[in-house]
Amino acid sequence: MKEPSAGLGDWERTHDCGALTDKDIGQRVLLMGWVWRRRDHGGVIFIDLRDRYGITQIVFNPQRDPTAYQQADHLRSEYVIAVQGEVEARPEGMVNPQLPTGTIEVNCDQLRLLNRSQTPPFLIEDQTDAGEEIRLKYRYLDLRRPRVQGNLLLRHRGYQIVRRLLDERGFIEVETPFLTKSTPEGARDYLVPSRVNPGQFFALPQSPQTYKQLLMIAGYDRYFQIVKCFRDEDLRADRQPEFTQIDIEMAFVREDHVMAIAEDITRALFAQLRQIDLLNPFPRLTYREAMERFGSDKPDLRFGLELKDIAAAARASQFQVFHSVLDSGGQVKGINAKGCSGFSRGQIDDLIAFAQGLGAKGLSWIKHTDSGLESSIVKFFPQTAQTQLIEALESAPGDLMLFVADQPKQVAQVLGALRLELAQRLSLVPEDSWQPLWVSQFPLLERDEEADRFTAVHHPFTAPLEEDFALLDSAPADARARAYDLVLNGNEIAGGSIRIFQRSVQARLFQLLEIGPEEAAAKFGFLLEALDYGAPPHGGIAFGFDRLITLLANEDSIRDVIAFPKTNKAVGLMENAPSSVDLGQLRELGIRSA
Ligand code: AMO
Ligand code: AMP
Repeated sequence: MKEPSAGLGDWERTHDCGALTDKDIGQRVLLMGWVWRRRDHGGVIFIDLRDRYGITQIVFNPQRDPTAYQQADHLRSEYVIAVQGEVEARPEGMVNPQLPTGTIEVNCDQLRLLNRSQTPPFLIEDQTDAGEEIRLKYRYLDLRRPRVQGNLLLRHRGYQIVRRLLDERGFIEVETPFLTKSTPEGARDYLVPSRVNPGQFFALPQSPQTYKQLLMIAGYDRYFQIVKCFRDEDLRADRQPEFTQIDIEMAFVREDHVMAIAEDITRALFAQLRQIDLLNPFPRLTYREAMERFGSDKPDLRFGLELKDIAAAARASQFQVFHSVLDSGGQVKGINAKGCSGFSRGQIDDLIAFAQGLGAKGLSWIKHTDSGLESSIVKFFPQTAQTQLIEALESAPGDLMLFVADQPKQVAQVLGALRLELAQRLSLVPEDSWQPLWVSQFPLLERDEEADRFTAVHHPFTAPLEEDFALLDSAPADARARAYDLVLNGNEIAGGSIRIFQRSVQARLFQLLEIGPEEAAAKFGFLLEALDYGAPPHGGIAFGFDRLITLLANEDSIRDVIAFPKTNKAVGLMENAPSSVDLGQLRELGIRSA
């Protein structure tokens, strides 16, 4: 085949590859795109021509145009071509009802090669055979796969829905700096050296938290931004070092106002992108309830398996393990694995190992069979205690009860995770079920045992509940925060709080966090000062937009909805970033290399 043409010349696209249908039969058209699949059928060549709009079947028939037919013989996967021809009805039996263009084909009489392609290192197909590493290295090829294009299109539509809704509600979009100071979300910062100020560094924002509060102080009343945030933390399937938030702040509001807007955004996205009607309003749980009932601050409500306190039954037993834990201020709780009394010794040992892997000291179990309770520990439970167990766990013959005794935090951690694990193993998670909920009233502070001091659970600008103000002096660990998380199917998709807006309260918080006046001034002086100039009551929230789109797209990994994501090692495989820089550059920045 001759070399690719220098350019388009006077050829102009008349349609995209997803546009043509029955109605266009008889028309002359000009299409451009990538060669997807090629089939040779008894002297006729078929090409599926692909662009982001769809696929159109192109036919090269030697009887129709011998030159085009001969050229088509040289076409390979991912070559870029332009074709002219006539739209025809597909012969009977060749109609593809799966495709919008499935009833027609274009009979080509003029073909132009625009560019060749190397053989791609993997199939550009939805069901690709390639591992993630090679796909990320050649991300521009991976991005050609219809599924990934669909995800990015969904994401695009998500941005527009959010912008439209917030604009209609009077929110204004404001950009805030990336070259800034450390912001208080609790991860490590990405630092950027300043050339003009040698030895000094900017930090990339972990969120626009301080700026959005300043915008409220400045009187902007309702702010939003769809914005990148940067956090140097351990990565997982739902975390990226740079990720996108829908960031929101409002003045003169309480929790309910912020939650209402966040619910409206979530409902609009699900309704418009997936035709799914989410509950209205979303249910709410306090942090305490969530931990008690589900062992998690982001409970998955799509299935039961709730945690039940069995302290009464444990007390009525002679089981020493349970007694000693209760005596030391711990809890004994259980979950009912419904219908699992038939579990083999091996299956139960597997669960025990799973629990131990989470730090459990043990996992006790009792089978509920037709002839009563069975387990090596049943002998420690007199009849009354057995009845209490059965009632607490709503157990029936056929069930398996599992118990953990430990301090409340460990019990929640182990049983919370065991609950999720059992739901997976027992296939209890219904498909296409969407269970949003709010978790609120988190503790304000948590103890950092290593550093032997308090840290803020949300961030240091979060207000305590008004009725808990007195606790800041008497029992700070018990004070609850005006913070709320939005959880969907066990994923934390948004988090926010009502803020401290009075300087004296902020100063008290810093005191509790053992951030001295000098440190506070150095880190957040500008915000503290601003609180002195008529700061209104305010609060807000931020969605993890990538997480939300991951759920909307039914994907497992946040990387599937980000155009150019990083690996779990925070590496950009395609562009090979991060990478070393030359010494001259470092010298210019006043940095000595190790
Ligand atoms: P928070 O730290 O809870 O709150 O973040 C808000 C939401 O962002 C998402 N998220 C992430 N997504 C992907 N990768 C990450 N590394 C990552 N970290 C967080 C989560 C989370 O719910 N400034 C406050 C908000 C506020 O108080 O208004 C903040 O950033 O879905
Ligand atoms: P042990 O006394 O350690 O041999 O444990 C006796 C039984 O109690 C074993 O079946 C353990 O799995 C179980 N067990 C031990 N510690 C705990 C605990 N903290 N919670 C629940 N079960 C436990």
